[in-house]
Amino acid sequence: MFTMQPIGFVRSPFQITQAVPKGLGARHEEEGTIEILPEFEAGLMDVEGFSHLFVIWAFDRSEGYELVGRPPTDDRPHGVFATRSPRRPNPIGLTVVELLRRDGAVLHVRGVDMLDGTPILDIKPWLTGVAPEKLRRGWLDEAEQRPK
Ligand SMILES: C[S@@+](CC[C@H](N)C(=O)[O-])C[C@H]1O[C@@H](n2cnc3c(N)ncnc32)[C@H](O)[C@@H]1O
Repeated sequence: MFTMQPIGFVRSPFQITQAVPKGLGARHEEEGTIEILPEFEAGLMDVEGFSHLFVIWAFDRSEGYELVGRPPTDDRPHGVFATRSPRRPNPIGLTVVELLRRDGAVLHVRGVDMLDGTPILDIKPWLTGVAPEKLRRGWLDEAEQRPK
């Protein structure tokens, strides 16, 4: 077993899950802040040099998990590990945000999809992309192309 502690918390415009854009074509352009706790602030040294960050966080308001479910992007079932569902055995979220600026322990970011107050577990610089010709998007491509 592992024990983790939040390194900080998200401030986002979303108070309820229904407010976060969902479904095919949903865009995450909302701005928010990531407020790092004072005891971890030194770990932000040099972070401002990166345009994008991976934010790893906890789905603290989801309950239980479902190994096969229907995501809002499709009416067909998929395995939890082929989706980004909040209802997972280990309720860990991963969001890539654009870093707009840093004010001390506060990171101003664009692209939040977390609820206000969500605990942050870790931050890492986003370094690489996958070349478009190598990227496969599984059932999502098929769901997007299917006539509605
Ligand atoms: C589909 S998940 C994707 C999250 C992340 N980008 C990922 O891939 O892990 C996004 C949804 O999680 C829900 N959510 C956001 N913050 C949450 C929290 N703290 N606890 C539970 N659910 C949350 C919202 O309903 C949002 O629509």
